[in-house]
Amino acid sequence: MTSGRESAFVLEASQLSKSYGERPALRELSLRLVRGRILGLIGPDGAGKTTALRLLAGLMRPDAGQILVSGVDVARRGAALRGLIGYMAQAYSLYGDLSVEENFRFFAAMLGVASREIPAMEERLLGLAMLLEHKKKPAGTLSGGMYKKLALACVLSHKPPLVLLDEPTNGVDPISRRELWAFLRELVDDGTSVVIATPYMDEAERCDEVALLVDGRIVAHDNPTRLMAEHQAGGEKGATFEDVFLALSEASSEKDEKS
Ligand SMILES: Nc1ncnc2c1ncn2[C@@H]1O[C@H](COP(=O)(O)OP(=O)(O)OP(=O)(O)O)[C@@H](O)[C@H]1O
Ligand SMILES: [Mg+2]
Repeated sequence: MTSGRESAFVLEASQLSKSYGERPALRELSLRLVRGRILGLIGPDGAGKTTALRLLAGLMRPDAGQILVSGVDVARRGAALRGLIGYMAQAYSLYGDLSVEENFRFFAAMLGVASREIPAMEERLLGLAMLLEHKKKPAGTLSGGMYKKLALACVLSHKPPLVLLDEPTNGVDPISRRELWAFLRELVDDGTSVVIATPYMDEAERCDEVALLVDGRIVAHDNPTRLMAEHQAGGEKGATFEDVFLALSEASSEKDEKS
C-alpha cells in the first residue's frame, strides 16, 4: 500500500495527538525524516518519547494524525510494515539463557529473515556490535552495554529502512556508548534512517537533526549545530546543549501561559 507517489521521506508523521485518559501525552507532533539520517528525539522523563515511538512503530493508534513509513500508512498495519521498521523498546527483552548467536538467529527468524541469509547477517551485525568473540555467551551474562548492542543487532536483522530506538544508551558506559553510536553511524552511512529517543542532552550533537520534545510538544526541530549557534548568538557563549534545551523549554511554557 503506497501513498500513491514516491516519497522522499522514510518517515512522515503529521499532527499526531495521543492522550491517556484525560492527560495529553503528545500534542500535534509532526516529524519528517529523509534516508540516511539520525534524528534524535530528545526530552526529559515523561516528555512523550516512548509514546511517540510506539505510535510510529504502529504498536498504538494515535487519537489523531497520520503516519507514513516509506509511503505506507501505519494505520493499515499491513504485513509490509514489519519489513519497514526495526523497533527497540525501552525495556527490550532477550532470552537470558540463550547464547548471543542463538538470540540473534531466533529474532532474525521471527522477523522473517530467510535461514540461508542469517549467517551473513549474523557475521555483519554481531561484528558491528563487537560481539563476535562473545557469541557463545548466554545473553543473561552480558554487560548492560553489550546486551543493548545485541538487542540492536537483533532488531536490525531484517535490514529495515527505518529504525526506532527507545533510549538504547540508557545505563550504558561511555565506551559502549561510543561503540553504539559508531554502530549507528555505519548503518546510516548505508542508507538506514534512525530515530533515537534519549534524555541525554549531550547525545544531541551526535545526531544529524534533533527534535526537542517538552510536555508532548516539539519545541524545536533543527540541526544541532544550528540550534546551538542560534542560542549562542543570543548572548550565551560556552553554552551546552542542556542550556539550549532549557531556554527553549522555558520559552515554550511562557508561550503556553500567555495563550
Ligand atoms: N500506559 C500509560 N497510561 C497512562 N499514562 C501514561 C502511559 N504511558 C505513558 N503515560 C504518561 O504519558 C506521558 C508520556 O510518557 P512517555 O512514556 O511517552 O514519556 P517518555 O518521554 O518516554 O519518558 P521516559 O524518559 O521516562 O521514558 C507521561 O506523563 C506518562 O506518565
Ligand atoms: Mg520512555
